[in-house]
Amino acid sequence: MQVKAPRGTYDILPDQVHKWHYIEEVLKGTAELYGYREVRTPIFEHTELFERGVGESTDIVTKEMYTFSDKSKRSLTLRPEGTASCARAIIEHSLYNGLLPVKWYYTGPMFRYDRPQTGRYRQFHQFGVEAFGSTSPYLDAEVILLLVEILNRLGLSEFELHLNSVGCPSCREEYRHKLIQHITPVKDGLCKDCQVRYQQNPLRVLDCKVATCHEAITGYPTLSEYLCGECRDHYAIVRETLEQNGVKYIHDDNLVRGLDYYTKTAFEVHIPDIGAQSAIGGGGRYDGLVRDCGGPDLPGIGFALGIERLLLAVESLKSSCVRPVGIEAFVTVMDDKYELQAARLVNELRQAGIRTDKDYSGKSARAQMKYAAKLGAYLTLFVGDEEINGDFITIRDMQSKKQEQVARDHITDHVKLLLQNY
Ligand code: HAM
Repeated sequence: MQVKAPRGTYDILPDQVHKWHYIEEVLKGTAELYGYREVRTPIFEHTELFERGVGESTDIVTKEMYTFSDKSKRSLTLRPEGTASCARAIIEHSLYNGLLPVKWYYTGPMFRYDRPQTGRYRQFHQFGVEAFGSTSPYLDAEVILLLVEILNRLGLSEFELHLNSVGCPSCREEYRHKLIQHITPVKDGLCKDCQVRYQQNPLRVLDCKVATCHEAITGYPTLSEYLCGECRDHYAIVRETLEQNGVKYIHDDNLVRGLDYYTKTAFEVHIPDIGAQSAIGGGGRYDGLVRDCGGPDLPGIGFALGIERLLLAVESLKSSCVRPVGIEAFVTVMDDKYELQAARLVNELRQAGIRTDKDYSGKSARAQMKYAAKLGAYLTLFVGDEEINGDFITIRDMQSKKQEQVARDHITDHVKLLLQNY
């Protein structure tokens, strides 16, 4: 039986990978412009990290984790997200004693066991940023401005930014009671999961994907009515700073996010054009996360973007800036007896930094030309009787079809000159 890639995973083949490079360059370049530096953490962590960090009542922890025991019977989990790993690394390396805020970005695969569909995979990729060590609302605004700048640079200006404050543990506690009071009389209308979790974490009901749950709790009290003075002031500064910088957002009382660590600012970005999975990114402040992971009281804020969803959005733009990287020059051998000279020429061109290739399957000269065109070569260089006897190389411009003879000694400089036109 043929072995296929596991459900919810896929290969990124070479004719697609240039799009990934393009997006990754924009992501990294923009984050670095804002003072964020790259961090790389392991792809698996102790299961406990995500249970404590992401939260034991979240869908991610209860249903979606790829958890396994290793040969020493340790429970390990393929990371479902990057924030908890960053918090762990901050604690492990005592970075809370150094320069604050610590501003990091990361990119790489994440794993969640969910039902695959367009824009939702079991192995997917995130780009995230995290800033640890400041409670300033201006840092919240900076992080959101960075997200907006990334989208603008990718040409994705048609996004919806949803913004809310989910409060702090003290104001949320009062709200939690009010929400439980509102839900209890209508609890029979909730889905099975929500019937179990609403007592422990009623905010999960607001975030539930089952539509009937929303219908059952219609008219529920909103968190913004219960925010304490500090949370209200914090949120006001975030909003004001975004407005002063021309960022449009939608205040969204329903936005609670699916991870437990959020406090105060929470946000999500949607691009409706890309289908049902329209959330391309989300994030927020998590002032209790580092403490929950066993570290000191160190606040933080960040976001993550789903790279597959960004790609869907960029592709729906038919963006012309996304161009495959192909070869620049192709060496056509007119006769087998010149293979050695051709190999030397290919090597010289490559050493001069010119992306070069040749045929290795004994194709005729005509077939080699077709092959060069398929590979996207700009120039073809011929090595045949005339060239060897005359100590020159014939160069053909594949677009204009013009040919010229160039002295063998000057070939690399001349090829570089011609390639400046491309
Ligand atoms: P999240 O909302 O769970 O947040 O994920 C962020 C983004 O990852 C989503 O908006 C989506 O684009 C993408 N994503 C999530 N699950 C999948 C999937 N199964 N397939 C494809 N894409 C997916 C977090 O992960 C937080 N750690 C974000 C954060 C960073 N908050 C603070 N700092």
